[in-house]
Amino acid sequence: MIDRYGRIIDYLRISITDRCNLRCIYCMPAEGVAWKPHEEVLSFEEILRLCGIMAGLGIRKVKVTGGEPLVRKGVVGFIAKLREIRGIEQVTITTNGLLLEEFFDEAGDAGRTLVDGVNISLDTLDPERFSRVTRTVPDAFARGQGLPAILRSLDRVQSLGIPVKLNCVPLRGFNEADLPGLAALARSANRAVRFIELMPLGSANSQESIPGAEVAALLERVYGPLTPYPGKLGNGPAEYYSLPGFAGKIGFINAVSEGFCEHCNRLRLSSGGILTPCLSSDTGMNLRNMLRGGASDAELRAAAAELAAQKPPSHNFSAVYEREQTKHKSGMYHIGG
Ligand code: 5AD
Ligand code: SF4
Repeated sequence: MIDRYGRIIDYLRISITDRCNLRCIYCMPAEGVAWKPHEEVLSFEEILRLCGIMAGLGIRKVKVTGGEPLVRKGVVGFIAKLREIRGIEQVTITTNGLLLEEFFDEAGDAGRTLVDGVNISLDTLDPERFSRVTRTVPDAFARGQGLPAILRSLDRVQSLGIPVKLNCVPLRGFNEADLPGLAALARSANRAVRFIELMPLGSANSQESIPGAEVAALLERVYGPLTPYPGKLGNGPAEYYSLPGFAGKIGFINAVSEGFCEHCNRLRLSSGGILTPCLSSDTGMNLRNMLRGGASDAELRAAAAELAAQKPPSHNFSAVYEREQTKHKSGMYHIGG
C-alpha cells in the first residue's frame, strides 16, 4: 500500500494482548489498569484472518507485541501460523523478556526459525532500579526471575542466531547512570542497543524524557565518537551509529525531538481489533465489529485500505506536550509498542 504522502505501508504491529506482567512507570498507572475482557480481545483465528487480508494489501512484515505478548497462551502456535501466511516475509516480537526462556523452551527445535528478531525492553541493569521502573517486588531476583531472567534470555536468543535489539527509555533523574552500561551490551556482542525518547502516552507524563542528542553526548564522553551507520537494521525509525571497538550498533529513536514520520511504514492493530494509522491516533477502524458482524474479506480489505489512506503526515506529540496534558490516555500496553 502507498499512502497519500507516498509512504510504502508494508509493516503491521499487532498487539495480541493488553495484559502485562510488569507495570512500567511510563506505561501504566500505579493503580494498574482494567484489562480488556477476554471476549473483546481478538482471537488468534481472527488476527490470522486479518493478517491474510493485510498481506494481500502489501503488508510484508509483522511485529507481535502487547502489553506483553508472551503472557498470552498459545503464542508459539500463533506465530508459527502467522509465518505460514503467504506474503508475510518477516515476523518479529517485542517483549519485556521475562518469559522468553519459556517461549523458546516451548518452541523447541522450531525456535531457531520462529521469529526473525527479538526486541527486549530494558531500562536499567541495576536490580533496585529495575524493580522501581517495572514496579516489581525485588524478591523476584532471589528466585532468578526479573532482571537475571532477562539477561539469561538475551544470551539464549543470541545463541540461537536470532538478531536482538534492546530498547531503553532514558528518564531524567532515574537511569542516566545506567545508560553507558546498557550501551556496553552492544560492545562484546553484535546486538543493537536503542535509546527511545519518551513519548507522551499513558503514564508517561509523570516522567521526564532525556533527548536523544543528550544521550548521544553522554555516550560519546564515555566511549568516543558515534559514527553514523549507513546500513539498515530492521524496519523501524531508529538511526544507528557505531562506537569504537563495539561489535553491535547504538540506535536512537528520537520520536519527539526529531520526529520520524516521513518514512513511517506502519499500521497498528490493537488487541481489541482497532486498526490505527499512527501511534498518536485516538481513533481507528473497528475491525472487530466488522469481523464479528460477518464482514467479507473484500469488505475488511476495503476498510483497511481506507484506514491506510487516512494515515496522517506526522504524529501530533508536540501539540500534546504544549497542552501539558496527555491526550493519549492509553499507554503502550494498549496501543502496542
Ligand atoms: N515512550 C517511549 N517508549 C515507550 N515504551 C513504552 N511506553 C513508551 C513511551 N511512552 C517502549 C517500551 C518498549 C517499546 C516498544 O516502547 O519500553 O521497549
Ligand atoms: Fe509491560 Fe512494556 Fe508497558 Fe512495561 S512498557 S508495563 S513491559 S507493556
